[in-house]
Amino acid sequence: MVTNRTFTMIKPDATAKNHIGGILKMINDANFRIIAMKYTRLSKEQAGAFYAVHKERPFYGELVEYMSSGPIIAAILEKNNAVADFRTLIGATDPSKAAEGTIRKIYAESISANAVHGSDSDENAQIEGDFFFSLLERP
Ligand code: CMP
Repeated sequence: MVTNRTFTMIKPDATAKNHIGGILKMINDANFRIIAMKYTRLSKEQAGAFYAVHKERPFYGELVEYMSSGPIIAAILEKNNAVADFRTLIGATDPSKAAEGTIRKIYAESISANAVHGSDSDENAQIEGDFFFSLLERP
């Protein structure tokens, strides 16, 4: 099933370095429409719940600490083939392996402070959007 929505976060490294505007411009220029967006900060408990799928991974503790270390932007994006096209736009998880011109190549610091999150499937896009936005907060 291919849907036309994905979910993203602009992570604490990128908000701290004033990259919000640059990243949103790249998202708009790639023809994604922002249909819901909020600026917020995750507690450790919330970050742990959001990334619960990675609970057994060695980097989970570091990921939770990092994602609760500062403000983030959460957003639902719309475009045909949104999940796959957004993952192309952001580039590889590890910025040293990200293609030229991708958001992570331009803005990310490291595999953990990697500037943005993008859903890896339509199912997770729905789950992750629901984590941040009520039905009243999105079309
Ligand atoms: P994201 O796309 O938000 O999904 C899971 C996150 O875990 C990923 O981006 C990285 O920031 C982080 N991550 C994945 N692999 C590693 C790793 N080997 N070391 C540290 N963090 C990682």
